[in-house]
Amino acid sequence: MSIKVGTVFNYLQLPNVSKFPFVINKRQDGIFIQKGLFVYTKSNEGFLIGVIEEIALLNEYFTDALTIKAYNNNDNPNIIKGLFPSKDFEFAIAIVNCLGLVQFKDENLKEIDRVQRMTYPASPGEGVYIVEEEILHKFLGFDNKYGLNLGYVKVTDSNAKINMNRLLNKHFAILSISGGGKSYLTSILIEELLSRGEDSGTPAIILFDVHGEYVYLKDIPELKDKIKIQDISYFQIGIPNLSPYVFKKYQEQISHVQVRELSKYIKKLNKDKQKKNKYTIQDIIEYIEQESDGNRSTKQALLGWLSELERLNLFGPQENPILNKVIENQQITIFNFQKEISIRKKQIIVDYICNRLFNLRRMNNIPPFLLIIEEAHQFCPEAAHAKAISKPIIEMIAREGRKFMACLCLISQRPKKLSTTALSQCNSKLVLSLKNPYDLKHLMDSSEAITKEYASMISSLGVGEMIVMGNAVNYPVFIDVRKRKFKAKNEETTLAQFCLNWQKKEIK
Ligand SMILES: Nc1ncnc2c1ncn2[C@@H]1O[C@H](COP(=O)(O)OP(=O)(O)OP(=O)(O)O)[C@@H](O)[C@H]1O
Ligand SMILES: [Mg+2]
Repeated sequence: MSIKVGTVFNYLQLPNVSKFPFVINKRQDGIFIQKGLFVYTKSNEGFLIGVIEEIALLNEYFTDALTIKAYNNNDNPNIIKGLFPSKDFEFAIAIVNCLGLVQFKDENLKEIDRVQRMTYPASPGEGVYIVEEEILHKFLGFDNKYGLNLGYVKVTDSNAKINMNRLLNKHFAILSISGGGKSYLTSILIEELLSRGEDSGTPAIILFDVHGEYVYLKDIPELKDKIKIQDISYFQIGIPNLSPYVFKKYQEQISHVQVRELSKYIKKLNKDKQKKNKYTIQDIIEYIEQESDGNRSTKQALLGWLSELERLNLFGPQENPILNKVIENQQITIFNFQKEISIRKKQIIVDYICNRLFNLRRMNNIPPFLLIIEEAHQFCPEAAHAKAISKPIIEMIAREGRKFMACLCLISQRPKKLSTTALSQCNSKLVLSLKNPYDLKHLMDSSEAITKEYASMISSLGVGEMIVMGNAVNYPVFIDVRKRKFKAKNEETTLAQFCLNWQKKEIK
């Protein structure tokens, strides 16, 4: 049964092709008509679905200054109030922003046949009805069976089950101000992906956890078999896997002449049966020192750069962890960067892992994956703001990953500082509260779905409210992010409680 909520009428210059106004029926059934509600009306072409974007209250009675003066007359308060039932003159109107024209397969309006752009306005006098949940979900492009349940559609309060394929495959970004709820939303996404049925097909997840916020997942009994935490302190890049040019990437000052010199020694090491595939920077250094041929100053400079790289404490004879062994379907590998402060070191690690993952995926040696990058502006910044070793590979995955089922999720609190190339390849955007006008403008520039009206709505979102737009849904939709199923131990601990805990520790 469709619930009728009002009647289309003429108001100002409306209805036109993109908007129609309707008078809201007075209701006794408790249904509350609000901004954001999805409604439809019958037009000449089919069923016009739209969303209420504004509600206004009108009362003819209070448009005249003299009446108001008389009404507020303190000497004789009840004269007019008693005579006129002014409340009955009040009526509410809603302005609907049309989204699409729907043709149904049958009379019962259950199966959507197709959705088109509207070309003709709604008819004044026609009834306006609430779009039923089932139709709404099909219209928005949700996947009620296998979708990721991220929260509730605003106003309607039905479960927003975002289609996984549509969200992941063309990459997505999670954006908001600091404290807007990005990491919280990401943990919900992880919960959903890890809890999917085994027969529904779920990629491996790799997450760069800059602040150690996701380590709590390991303590959850239901999930712990699917969680692998890799502490960056033990991370090692295998030197035999690196080409001489990668050395130059990690230490920019190595000159081309020195790179050529370096490749000579690497070739030699590879011929040495004992050292082959097991050598370290220290071995290369020893080889250079033993060699009597060659230009002395080139060798000296190269030795200097290699020792500098060695001091980073990142390189060894073999990679650790061995990436093709840890990455598995429907499991998450969390690289915990909490203890690492050097931004250069972090970028080198991210660069190395991304390169390896992408190559392994191209060779089909690891399952399809979702790579989640927290604080993405640190690893893939816009050129005007900073440089980063890891930027080219992240942009490459953004551009080409889709073809190899390598999905990317960029998380950032400063979209403006994030590479435009990478951001514009993120077809879906989950935007929580974003206040900075520069960030909003950058976002509008990078996706045509965001109009001025949406931008102003985005800036007024609260914690836990988001708009999903782009490839994941057919139309931008506002969603209240749900609560976590699995809570972190410290999640509800206040600052004062942390201080007390600290005090106790001190006393001990
Ligand atoms: N949907 C939600 N329901 C309840 N609480 C939430 C929700 N989203 C966020 N919060 C709370 O808001 C706080 C900030 O969230 P979160 O850490 O996810 O922000 P953030 O955007 O990742 O911030 P930063 O950019 O600093 O990393 C957290 O304490 C979290 O508990
Ligand atoms: Mg965060």
